[in-house]
Amino acid sequence: MFTLVIPTYNERLTIEPLLDRVAAVRLGWPEELEVLVMDDGSTDGTIAAAEAALARLRLGRVVQRHGQPDLAQAVLEGIRQARGEMIGVMDADLSHPPELLPSLAKAVQAGQDVVVASRYVSGACIQTFAAWRWALSRLANWLARPLTPVADATSGYFVARAEVVRSIAPAPRGFKILLEILVTQCVHRVQEVPYQFTERAAGQSKLRWSVCASYGAQLLRLGWHRLRHPCRHRRGASPRSVSMTHASFS
Ligand code: GDD
Ligand code: MN
Repeated sequence: MFTLVIPTYNERLTIEPLLDRVAAVRLGWPEELEVLVMDDGSTDGTIAAAEAALARLRLGRVVQRHGQPDLAQAVLEGIRQARGEMIGVMDADLSHPPELLPSLAKAVQAGQDVVVASRYVSGACIQTFAAWRWALSRLANWLARPLTPVADATSGYFVARAEVVRSIAPAPRGFKILLEILVTQCVHRVQEVPYQFTERAAGQSKLRWSVCASYGAQLLRLGWHRLRHPCRHRRGASPRSVSMTHASFS
C-alpha cells in the first residue's frame, strides 16, 4: 500500500482538482492507495471539499488536527497514521504534479530510501516563481549543503520507505520535514527526480519570515546533531552518491 499525505490549510480551491488528478493516477497504477488529508483547522471550506472528493473517489480520509497549525507537525502526524509501506508527501496547491508519483514510488521500490521531487537538478524547471522566492529557496538549500548532498532538501514533495520515516523524533515547530528526515535518519540511498514546479494557481502561500527564522534554528540544531552523531555508511556507499533520473513530465 502507498499512503499519500497532503497537508492543507485553506486550500478549498485546489484540493478537489488535486484529488481528481490523484485518482486519475491511481487508475493506471497497481499500488493500493490511501490518501490522508491533514488539515489544521481550515476555515474556507477545505475540509468539506476534501471530504466530498475523497468519498466520491473512494480515496481516503481527512484528519482534522487541533491546536496551533504547523505544516511539519501535520505531515509527521500523517506519517504516524499511514498504513502504507511507502509514504508520499505533497502540497495541496497544485505546485506538485501527482502524475510524477508512480516514478517516485518506482525508485523507492528499486531500493532508494527517499526519492525527492526536485526543482534543482538538471531537467527540472520552475514556472512563475517570483525571483525573490527563487533566491530564498536557493539560499536555503545552499545553507543545507554541509548537511546533505540533496540539491532540493527543502522540497515539500517526496516519497519515502515507511520504516525510514516512521521513527523520526518530534522536533520543534516549523521545521522542514524532508531535511529533518535526510539528516536525522542519515539517509544515503536517496535519489532526486526533476519535475516542473508550478507556482500555486489559487489561494495564498503560508511562507512567513518566521518560517525563515525557524529554518535557521533547524540548521543549527541539525548541525549540532551531525557533530554528535556522525553518519557512517558501509564502505563504498558514500553519502554523497546521490543519483538523478530524468523522468518525463507527462
Ligand atoms: N496542515 C497544515 N498546517 N498544512 C499547512 C500548513 C499548516 O500549518 N501551512 C501550510 N500548509 C499546507 C498548504 O495548504 C499547502 O498544501 C502546503 O502545506 C504548502 O504550503 P504553501 O503555503 O503552499 O507553502 P510554500 O509553497 O511556500 O512551500 C511549500 O512548497 C515548497 C516547495 O516544494 C513547502 O512544502 C515547502 O516546504 C517547500 O519548500
Ligand atoms: Mn505552495
